[in-house]
Amino acid sequence: MARLYDKTAVITGGTTGIGFETAKQFIAQGARVIITGQNGDRLQAAAQALGSKAIPVQADVRSRSDLNGLAARVKEEFGHLDILFANAGIGYFAPLDTVDEALYDNQFDINVKGVFFTVQTLLNLMNEGASIILNASAVNEKGAAMGSVYFATKAAVRSLARTLAAELASRKIRVNALSPGFVPTNFQSKMGLPPEVLNNFGDYVKQSAPLERFGKPEEIAAGAVFLASDESSYMTAADLVIDGGYMNV
Ligand SMILES: NC(=O)c1ccc[n+]([C@@H]2O[C@H](COP(=O)([O-])OP(=O)(O)OC[C@H]3O[C@@H](n4cnc5c(N)ncnc54)[C@H](OP(=O)(O)O)[C@@H]3O)[C@@H](O)[C@H]2O)c1
Repeated sequence: MARLYDKTAVITGGTTGIGFETAKQFIAQGARVIITGQNGDRLQAAAQALGSKAIPVQADVRSRSDLNGLAARVKEEFGHLDILFANAGIGYFAPLDTVDEALYDNQFDINVKGVFFTVQTLLNLMNEGASIILNASAVNEKGAAMGSVYFATKAAVRSLARTLAAELASRKIRVNALSPGFVPTNFQSKMGLPPEVLNNFGDYVKQSAPLERFGKPEEIAAGAVFLASDESSYMTAADLVIDGGYMNV
């Protein structure tokens, strides 16, 4: 039987990159999936590519009213929710002395507050046995110049996986972090780094990750399928790190 047969799932930020690839794999494993994004064109394109098992819902994770609208739509379409992949996120890099309040707030609003209230808003739709996966990052235990705000947001997401796992265990809901390493997606083009730095990013990845290459979205999505499925039934509060060795070496 398919590993996610008849399961219902929400993937925030399911329009491109890791979220989109995860939607593909969830559907291939038998799930029905609501994907979200903030950009309407990318959302429609993704839904069309994924086919009839994917339902697009436009929702900005920074907006409580959009999240309430998402919850209403989940109730209407599915009745309940088995899997939540809180994946929407951005990473903006800048030297400490150029980081302004707007950059700081936007990163935390999307990556931390967005994840927190996505979980809170959808929680009452989740059954016993449900799985929540928070997309952190392999940077959650690291440090690097110009990454102060982004790295801090991902350390916070890792922390949330621990505390929410403790709090939701009595409801038999598992919460785990998933931490990708370097994966070529639209993410890199939004980092705010100059072209000369981005052009050399491959060299940085080779030096930083023992497997000396970028990961593929499919390799991260495979981890999300595992955490979503009953194969990981004894895992909660954990961090599944899929990063070519970057975090731990
Ligand atoms: N790529 C990497 O190397 C890497 C490494 C570690 C962790 N991650 C994490 O993986 C997650 C996905 O990133 P990705 O690499 O797949 O990048 P991506 O292709 O840029 O995907 C980001 C997704 O998040 C959505 N999103 C962004 N801001 C949003 C908002 N305010 N409300 C709702 N949706 C929003 C985007 O939708 P729109 O297009 O509509 O904005 C898009 O669907 C992020 O949390 C990122 O931090 C990525």
